[in-house]
Amino acid sequence: MSIRNLLDRRLRDAAISCGIAVSPTDHLAAPSARPEFGDFQANLALAAAREMNAKPRDLAERIVARAQLADIASRVEIAGPGFINIHLADDFLARLLDDLRGAHRLCPLAAHPVRTVVDYSSPNLAKEMHVGHLRSTIIGDAVVRVLEYLGHEVIRHNHMGDWGTQFGMLIAELEDHLGTGEAPDLALADLEQFYQNAKAHFDLDAEFATRARHYVVRLQAGDAHCHALWQRFIAISIAHSEAIYRQLNVTLSHADIRPESAYNDALAEVAALLTAQGLAAEDQGALVAFLPELADKQGRPSPVIVRKSDGGYLYATTDLAALRYRSQTLGAARILYFIDARQSLHMKQVFTLARKAGLVGADVALEHHPFGTMLGPDGTPFKTRSGGTVKLAELLDEAVARAAQLVAAKNPALAETTHAEIAHKVGIGAVKYADLARTRTHDYVFDWDSMLSFDGNTAPYLQYAYTRIQSIFRRAAHSAPDATPGPIEITTAAERRLALALLGFGEVLNQVAAEAYPHVLCNYLYELASTFTSFYEQCPILKPEVAPELRASRLALCQLGARTLATGLDLLGIEVMAEM
Ligand code: ARG
Repeated sequence: MSIRNLLDRRLRDAAISCGIAVSPTDHLAAPSARPEFGDFQANLALAAAREMNAKPRDLAERIVARAQLADIASRVEIAGPGFINIHLADDFLARLLDDLRGAHRLCPLAAHPVRTVVDYSSPNLAKEMHVGHLRSTIIGDAVVRVLEYLGHEVIRHNHMGDWGTQFGMLIAELEDHLGTGEAPDLALADLEQFYQNAKAHFDLDAEFATRARHYVVRLQAGDAHCHALWQRFIAISIAHSEAIYRQLNVTLSHADIRPESAYNDALAEVAALLTAQGLAAEDQGALVAFLPELADKQGRPSPVIVRKSDGGYLYATTDLAALRYRSQTLGAARILYFIDARQSLHMKQVFTLARKAGLVGADVALEHHPFGTMLGPDGTPFKTRSGGTVKLAELLDEAVARAAQLVAAKNPALAETTHAEIAHKVGIGAVKYADLARTRTHDYVFDWDSMLSFDGNTAPYLQYAYTRIQSIFRRAAHSAPDATPGPIEITTAAERRLALALLGFGEVLNQVAAEAYPHVLCNYLYELASTFTSFYEQCPILKPEVAPELRASRLALCQLGARTLATGLDLLGIEVMAEM
């Protein structure tokens, strides 16, 4: 149990026995804003006193008397009009840290594991994966890792775009390539180029365009020839994405792909269901649902096209079918989407319509977690110099190459294989962290120099902080071979600050799990690393005058510090190394 939860529980019991009504889920204690107000503060006496017509300070006294905080707090004060200031006892903090050292994980499992579907990455297979999919992939994967660490049951869904009109054009193009005897792998080596060629043929060649349109229809009708071509295309495009997932250290596997085509057979059913319930109706040949809930300023209901007049289905209908599957077949209680903020209206429409039609249970949480755009140095959406989309694979290669230079400059003595491995972890880590550390909903400027800096809130800074702790252990093995981490004692303010920081990890993870903002974890790790640095500057460890028990305690703090940093970075999908 976290310190906060423990205090909440004691205060809640005390409040109830004083006749104060408190909700079983509200926090009653909050971390204090200033150290002179103690470590935690509770203000429940103030509001309750008004309702009970009592004096707030008297009520606070009564709560404190019943809260039985003697084993937790060294001092409890009533301050100002009736605030309760709690100063935690050093030996209590030390005991909690010793428990943590012995525990398998660094925070308790969720009391109620939730079956959660997370829809993320989800590139369109018609084209190469580009920077626009980077944010969804990185942010979604970090949240998934945190949810799993807390014991939630996560089902990853990579809702890949593998269906739709573009595929007619692409399989016609592929057919032409294969007709010349070219191997499919070669034809599709550069998906971006392939798409451009297909598009040019479609626009300029009437015969090609007719064939392409025809192929879409045949594909959707299950024609074997078209289906085989489509399958080849899809397999190669998926392989491109999976190479990027591996390079990015992202946990999405092949089994997590649940593409748009998987819902193909359910689309007509969804349309029939909406029609039967009177939620969708024919409008100029198309089947449309109008949503008054999302009306515009003029009061016009928001239209959702369920089926086009040519009988084709669109993106929204597929999402409705996916929601039904996730809720009714998989039994998800929470469904998260990591998609660009520009799709916010789409998500609102889908959620609203799905709820009205009963495709998802009323108690299922539906959450769109949007994110802003990645911008180039000039403040406009990230593009190549010539204005094209930046290929993710090339961007990541450049990150590793730049990190290789950086690492070589910092530590020229590294062996070649070690150097290559470190450059990979630093380069990929830097790109991921620069994205994760920004408040998700904001746009951000992609900047090589700041993300690869050893100063400031960056991956290299945190990875370096980790290696510094590892070097303490290497030196300890040399200068004090008998020293091992032992029971923790808190003797200085710097140790105490580090203790509180280490004990705050679980609270931060719970916040990330609830709100899906990974920057909260980034900020925490950055502060932890800074707190560790001042501890290290102020508290000697290996100097001969340090008593063995104190050395053991400080080594234990180092060990927990390293473990927390490594675990936190791992939950962000970033790797650490023993040296750099
Ligand atoms: N393929 C879409 C795109 O690239 C993203 C899909 C997101 N997931 C969803 N269920 N709509 O824009």
